Amino acid sequence: MAISLLPLPIPPSADAAELANFGREVVGLDPGNLTPEQFADMREALYKYDALLFRNASLSPEQQYALTKAFDATSENYGHGNNKTGSTAKSILHPDLKTIPRVPQVQLIGNGTVYDHEGLAEARLKHPHHKTFHKTVISPEDEFPAPESGRPGATRFYRWHIDAALYELSPPRVTTLYALKVPRGPAQVCRYDDGTGDELAVPLGTTAFVSGRKMFELLPRELKSVAVRTRVRYAPHPYVWMAPSRSRSTGLGLESEGLEMKLEELPPWEEGKVKVLPMLWKVPTTGELSFQVHPSAISELLISPLPSSASREGALYPDGAHLTDLKTVRELVYSMQRPAIAPHLVYPHDWNEKDLFLFHNRGVLHTVVGAFRDEEVRAFHQCNLAASDDPEGPSEEDVRRWA
Ligand SMILES: [Fe+2]
Repeated sequence: MAISLLPLPIPPSADAAELANFGREVVGLDPGNLTPEQFADMREALYKYDALLFRNASLSPEQQYALTKAFDATSENYGHGNNKTGSTAKSILHPDLKTIPRVPQVQLIGNGTVYDHEGLAEARLKHPHHKTFHKTVISPEDEFPAPESGRPGATRFYRWHIDAALYELSPPRVTTLYALKVPRGPAQVCRYDDGTGDELAVPLGTTAFVSGRKMFELLPRELKSVAVRTRVRYAPHPYVWMAPSRSRSTGLGLESEGLEMKLEELPPWEEGKVKVLPMLWKVPTTGELSFQVHPSAISELLISPLPSSASREGALYPDGAHLTDLKTVRELVYSMQRPAIAPHLVYPHDWNEKDLFLFHNRGVLHTVVGAFRDEEVRAFHQCNLAASDDPEGPSEEDVRRWA
């Protein structure tokens, strides 16, 4: 490989050995003007390490779109469709996205009010806050304690997810995040509030990442067998469907209280556009399997029977199953995903202005974290593109190996 890579700074909360292969900083390259050879090396590095950071990058929205598109030459639309958020105003993503007029594939996201920005006279941005999504919330006193208390403010993982519409459109391969304005503030403590006592010190407004490969690797044998045999059916218009329901305190999927919208109340939808995707997605170039499930959007699981060559001893669902009870579906998926968001496995990126961060959207789960005050202005450009195909699942050989 002809490009220079450095390890990312691993915070004290993380197990450095576990994160040894997560993320690299690319040095000495201009991400807006890569040669085809440099791009090919960078692509290989991205799929190997899941995330790449360029510091002090200068990148126009046009260059960011071109860089993102280079991973999938025929992709053209933003991951949720260009300007599509307008037609689904009830979607929970609606308030978070402001399109750059010149390059509608690039979104302006952040916090506070931004003026005269890339053709937008005034954009009011709101950093997503867990109180709009979680069933329980952190008290204002814990979130912003009096300075004299000496306590750090408490926060939550907002929503662990894959960037994807999960209806009609295919999940983007890569997301690029370019930090333009980063408010500096005190570190916060991200609380899991799930009875485990887990918590994680985080820089203000971090984006947190976990590896889908690690998520698969951590599973006990019987759950690896389930994972390799399972396809996940997502709800139609999932972000509209889930809007009335509330999240678990870890941000990793929803509470099952029957609050989801009824299918007949949703905007018109077609069975042929509903997404049914493998639970494990194959990493291009390495062939590894990554556990890739958007926990809030799932509705059903389709589990194939064990292949005849596999041992049935201790096997779960040896004859296959079609799980349609939401609570059962969510409990099973939660038990598979929760181990991988343990504090020592999370990479919380400490943003600096002009950081360009690329991540393999088909190889990680990520989440917004933290709470800003209204006057703390943050501005990022985000781009991902609905892919030209759906992710590839496990091969027959993978099934024989892991089932
Ligand atoms: Fe995202």
